[in-house]
Amino acid sequence: MRFFKILLMSSAIVAPAMAKTPVYLDPKAPVEERVKDALGRMTLEEKVALCHAQSKFSSPGVQRLGIPELWMSDGPHGVRMEINWNDWGHSNWTNDSVTAFPALTALAATWNPELSGIYGKNFGEEARYREKDVMLGPGVNIYRTPLNGRNFEYMGEDPYLAGEMVVPYIQELQKNGVAACVKHFALNNQEKWRGDVDVVVSDRALYEIYLPAFKKAVQEGGSWSIMGSYNQIWGEHACHNKRLLCDILRDEWGFDGVVITDWGGAHDTKQAAENGLDIEMGSYTNGLTSESAFGYNDYYLADPYLKMLRSGEVSDSTVNAKASNILRLIFRTAMNTDKPFGSLASPEHYAAAKQISDESIVLLKNTGLLPLDPARYRKILVVGENAIRNLTDGGGSSELKAKNIYTPLEALKGIYETVDFQPGYISGRPMYHNEDIIPQSTLDSLRNEAVRNAADYDAVIYIGGLNKNGWQDCESTDRREYNLPWGQDRIIAELVAANPNTVVANITGNAYAMPWADKVPAIIQNWYLGTMVGPAMADVISGKTNPSGKLPFSFPKCLEDNGAHHFGAASYPGIENKLRGVEPQQEYLEDILVGYRWHDTKKIPALFPFGHGLSYTDFKFGKATASAAKMSSDGSITVSIPVENAGSVEGKETVQLYIGDDKSTVLRPVKELKKFRKIDLRPGEKTEVEFTITPDDLKFFDETSHEWVAEPGTFTAYLGTSSKDIKSSVKFQYK
Ligand code: BGC
Repeated sequence: MRFFKILLMSSAIVAPAMAKTPVYLDPKAPVEERVKDALGRMTLEEKVALCHAQSKFSSPGVQRLGIPELWMSDGPHGVRMEINWNDWGHSNWTNDSVTAFPALTALAATWNPELSGIYGKNFGEEARYREKDVMLGPGVNIYRTPLNGRNFEYMGEDPYLAGEMVVPYIQELQKNGVAACVKHFALNNQEKWRGDVDVVVSDRALYEIYLPAFKKAVQEGGSWSIMGSYNQIWGEHACHNKRLLCDILRDEWGFDGVVITDWGGAHDTKQAAENGLDIEMGSYTNGLTSESAFGYNDYYLADPYLKMLRSGEVSDSTVNAKASNILRLIFRTAMNTDKPFGSLASPEHYAAAKQISDESIVLLKNTGLLPLDPARYRKILVVGENAIRNLTDGGGSSELKAKNIYTPLEALKGIYETVDFQPGYISGRPMYHNEDIIPQSTLDSLRNEAVRNAADYDAVIYIGGLNKNGWQDCESTDRREYNLPWGQDRIIAELVAANPNTVVANITGNAYAMPWADKVPAIIQNWYLGTMVGPAMADVISGKTNPSGKLPFSFPKCLEDNGAHHFGAASYPGIENKLRGVEPQQEYLEDILVGYRWHDTKKIPALFPFGHGLSYTDFKFGKATASAAKMSSDGSITVSIPVENAGSVEGKETVQLYIGDDKSTVLRPVKELKKFRKIDLRPGEKTEVEFTITPDDLKFFDETSHEWVAEPGTFTAYLGTSSKDIKSSVKFQYK
């Protein structure tokens, strides 16, 4: 009886707690129902609060309803160290050291979408462990000029390559319950004047070159958020640009995620309210110039927005749309009850970083010196600051506190019998926004010191390039010159004159001039590879890894050979027009002819073309064939080409398919990348690489009809190992 009574009592106590869970708290309920339910419970003030920052990297939830905050972090190649609540200072936590993954140029240079998935998965696990909800990346702005300080954060000059590579990254990252925030949407293709330059671009270049990777990130990658860029387009800032965000992103592409400003990218409350922006981050409220007097309520999408809503100047539907998008993002991330715990700087993450680094390194030139066999080359002189420099410091928002960096010098010492080091030059302290000026006398002595004994070594390995300081590969500034800084051209020329066994293995995120290229027997292009930079480079140099990276952008001989620079200041960096205020305006005069499209069509050979990359083995190609001579508008054809590894070591090759329209009513590039496949062959092994082409691969964007059009006629499929090295081609008719 007593037992029965207790039971009765306890059920009476439990009963109210068993009241029906509100739909928005039910993880099993469909997301749209949860969004609707939560929205219905919120006040106007609570909805507006969701739409702006509460600290440097977080936005509030709805405390009263138990809806948590959103925590964001950069991106894109590792989880950034913790930043202070109200300013950009590092918080100096002791538990935020991470794996530094290779920069996105490196990922693009692998031409291996499978590695992109591995990247997203491993990086996502670190983001989860660090309890982030939104990672501010990946970046897919197109590489338009080698002077852009942020190219290292992006995936090269070709929209198809960038699009194919970004999708698996996003899909795998988001499996961790962490949103990707693909950036910077759109046309932020230079850092100079990035905050206000007004970009004029044709619709054709926009749709064919600058938007496709974003579109794939949204539609195929399913990115849960996107970051607006700083610049203006059609005279309106991108972060609240009606055509870009409402017409293209939402209406044409069906984006259901959250649009976040770049930090300080909002400029106008009415536009921010009405033109598709959801969350405003990073605005400075003290006259928008300093971070001394932060007032989050003064944000454009805070009190000024509330005021406009209350007065009816903007409609309630704007805030309901924003709050719905943000709630959807919170349910997908912060309130996702299925997400894993993640892990940080684990052996698996280091292995992934190494694998990606290995496949990213590009062998640009080799007259036979490489690989440097440790049994034959025993005494090595390493020259160049990047052999020891921590290149995860600086660069801007992509800076990282790496738990470990295994440097090239350290890794080479583990392979060769005697390894000596000379810096050759110095570049000063790692800095963002700034640089140390190095006296010429210092540079002269360092160069002389490095060259003096170079002849006494079996080989010299030069590891210089750019770094992450201001005016190098760094956010908010562009490079000042196409040549390497700190007198490196002279050092390299003198080293190779002193010792003909000189390998140049520079680290950069950009193309640069190589006036010494003819004289140097071996050139390797390395990227900002992060934690595993040393082991990856040393394995390629010594031959343990057979290089298989391919350039994701062209290396022009000189700056003027690049399309964006051909037309002078009007095209890059733009011209300040005093009549319009002081805002600079810029017109993309090379239009659709970006990168190799320019080199090919204008018949200006690049020093090293897009897609180029050699191997230690030798691949032989047969004749390309097509499954049919004609393709109809609802049909497809398959083109194939036999490939054989005719060398003596296993190797990977990326077979690239470009298509050209032989005759067209509009200007078209000679050819455009439409497919690629990376294959792995043992010595003597053969395979047949097949690609299926559909009418979509033949189309251009017609500005008049706003449609993609393929004109009937003859097309050529070019199959090769770079945009220049075409092994075989085959023609077909399109009807
Ligand atoms: C950069 C973004 C970055 C943001 C937050 C901005 O300066 O342009 O890419 O995500 O800062 O750090």
